Amino acid sequence: MNTARLPIRRILTGIRPTGKLHLGHFVGALQMWEQLQHEDYDCYFLLADVQALTTHAKEPGLIEEAVKEVTLDMLGVGLDPTRPNVHFVVQSWVRELPELYTYLSMVAPFSDVRRNPTLKDEMASIEKGDVSLSEVKKTTLGFIDYPVSQVADIELFTPPAPHQKDDELLVPVGEDQVPHVELTNRTIRNFNTTYGEVFLEAKYRLTKFPRLVGTDGQAKMSKSLGNVIQLSDPLEVVNKKVAVMFTDTQKIHTADPGHPEKCPVYLYHQAFAKQSGTIRSLEDRAAQCRQGTLGCVECKKELAVALNNLLDPIRDRRTKAEKAPLRQYLEEGTAKAREVGQQTLAAVRQAMHLEYPKIR
Ligand code: TRP
Repeated sequence: MNTARLPIRRILTGIRPTGKLHLGHFVGALQMWEQLQHEDYDCYFLLADVQALTTHAKEPGLIEEAVKEVTLDMLGVGLDPTRPNVHFVVQSWVRELPELYTYLSMVAPFSDVRRNPTLKDEMASIEKGDVSLSEVKKTTLGFIDYPVSQVADIELFTPPAPHQKDDELLVPVGEDQVPHVELTNRTIRNFNTTYGEVFLEAKYRLTKFPRLVGTDGQAKMSKSLGNVIQLSDPLEVVNKKVAVMFTDTQKIHTADPGHPEKCPVYLYHQAFAKQSGTIRSLEDRAAQCRQGTLGCVECKKELAVALNNLLDPIRDRRTKAEKAPLRQYLEEGTAKAREVGQQTLAAVRQAMHLEYPKIR
């Protein structure tokens, strides 16, 4: 009989370092990551710099800068790599990842990869000429294949089978990442049935507001669309960006009846209710907007105050973090991750019969 051990409580998630992080990242992911580090999870936060190369291969300098900025942003929101359960991991430093990716690509269902909605969306925006991707004149193989490399990201840092019923691999992400978790599970089920049990299935977890619209009301906050508020934006910049936010197009004058549910400013008040509710409750805000007793200028001013209340401590911690030993955090986190990764990979190679004990 197996002797009982403590359950595996693993968190794996990641972010592509292509620039500073913004409120969309915060609402969809970072806020939840920060909370989860206080639970009894072992947390691996991946700076997916190789994945960043899928769209920024020609800008290595930009990625180096972004790894630094994202590390600062992560520290800014309160992720704490000095806690024993929190590890910042640099993807390209984990040599085990490309090896696992190669093996997994042999069992990843190609039709699923091709149908992966994230990939399809991104391919569509390349075809439409999205400025952020204009340097990718032709789609590269790495880009087409990145969902499989993300399967390796998700699975490498969890110890291999035998697993217990209460073992858990949790992937806290924004809504757009869910298809990746589904592909992960289809891929590893294939692996486990072919070669015997090695991998643990992943579960995703979404925040209450998994997506934040851009300041222009477009579906998503995205640097390439120029509709973001960065976590490191100073107070005056936040004020300016909020002042020019899109609102309900049918509400021109204060007295016009508004439609809060269609207004990006109101959607932000919802997403940041904890901060803005101290100024005016959501219910009052919606009612007064509809009645024509609350104007957009005032409503925006209050949003700017709420956002600055949220961002003040983040900006403070971020500034302090500029003096922190960033490189040490990244090296220690990555070393810890590789330790687990090597165990997983050894089990994979054995399951796939790649050790060839009979050959002497
Ligand atoms: N695809 C994610 C993004 O665009 C980043 C990422 C890479 C990731 N590997 C991951 C997310 C593993 C969750 C799990 O931000």
